[in-house]
Amino acid sequence: MGKINKRKKVAIIFGITGQDGSYLAEFLLKKNYIIHGVKRRSSSANTERIDHIFDSINFRNKNFFIHYGDITDSSSILSLLNKVKPDEIYNLAAQSHVKVSFDIPEYTANSTALGALRILESIKILNLKKTKYYQASSSEMFGKQVSKKSQNEKTSFHPMSIYGVSKVFAYHTSVFYREAYGIFASNGILFNHESPRRGPTFVTKKIIQGLVRIKLKKQKFLSLGNLYAVRDWGHAQDYVETMWKILQYKKADDWVIATNVEMSVKKFINKCAKKLNINIIWKNKGLNEVGINKDNNEVVIKLDKKYIRPGEVNYLRGDYSKAKKLLKWKPKYTVDYLIEDMIRYEKNLYK
Ligand code: NAP
Ligand code: GDD
Repeated sequence: MGKINKRKKVAIIFGITGQDGSYLAEFLLKKNYIIHGVKRRSSSANTERIDHIFDSINFRNKNFFIHYGDITDSSSILSLLNKVKPDEIYNLAAQSHVKVSFDIPEYTANSTALGALRILESIKILNLKKTKYYQASSSEMFGKQVSKKSQNEKTSFHPMSIYGVSKVFAYHTSVFYREAYGIFASNGILFNHESPRRGPTFVTKKIIQGLVRIKLKKQKFLSLGNLYAVRDWGHAQDYVETMWKILQYKKADDWVIATNVEMSVKKFINKCAKKLNINIIWKNKGLNEVGINKDNNEVVIKLDKKYIRPGEVNYLRGDYSKAKKLLKWKPKYTVDYLIEDMIRYEKNLYK
């Protein structure tokens, strides 16, 4: 019997140049998708994470296309969706840094909140009945939780930043377009996920980059903010697989994706230091707390109030039982593997 010639699925990824966008593109290409990635204009190169996929000189990858666009620009979204008419849209584009959202609240809301509205409204206007939409929702939406219980799809939101507020808007907008217009719009409520491709100002990357450089005597100390916030850290490669699974599920829905393992920033530092054979002891309290390298008595961790946030999310631990049961998803990578993967990458840069 001859092979059935199945049409390739077509996906648009907003946020293709980011951590998740780059891993998702690799994942979907392996699944034989045609990918259209949206990249915003920038005065310096912002395609570092996808250059290995898109060979801009030879145009070797015939299933991978990059378009200029911006989620603050409705016309660019509308015309791309009209041209491509994709099977799936992954909205990963956002001003994604929580601390930065205190400094640029209006832009954060414009991109992170209204960006989702613009894409969903374009799907509606163009009557793209078969297009499925993935919204990159966030555990930051849970915000201020008084108990140390894990959070699931039923936990109420109490955002503590304009980033969180914007993600709540985008979450509800997705639910609204699903319920009012029948659009297949799903929310993946993803807890923190990291990788060697993580942006350098997020805490895991900052800690690992800093400690590797301290170990190699290229940096003296690392300045940080709140050491006592607790996060549930997973590996981005695990999490992009779920984004796809969420859109393959029989109906649009909302899903918590996490590891259910909690860890404070301080414990994360201690784990990384141990793997790098840096022996840290902690002294003092409050903003005077310091981490000292026991072997040479040098201060390697200091606190700086500029990294303390006006609103903080103290405790995040995700209960992903729904995704485990219905999507048959669970994380493959442990936090120890994540740290080792990130350390390996960082060390290789100096070889
Ligand atoms: P990231 O590395 O910061 O990537 C964000 C992407 O959005 C980048 O490609 C960025 O482009 C793009 N972008 C920003 N503003 C844009 C605009 N105005 N128009 C078009 N594109 C724009 O974030 P990530 O870690 O991959 O996260 C992906 C998504 O998941 C984000 O929406 C984030 O808020 C959400 N999320 C992340 C986590 C996590 O722990 N990583 C957890 C929950 C939810 P440039 O490269 O040009 O900056
Ligand atoms: N970035 C940063 N820099 N965070 C620090 C620092 C520092 O120097 N020192 C302590 N922290 C603390 C923050 O106060 C926060 O409690 C925690 O480390 C994690 O900070 P980030 O790595 O910046 O991540 P986030 O939790 O604020 O946000 C990330 O996860 C969200 C999901 O919960 C981002 O990826 C968001 O886009 C995502 O939605």
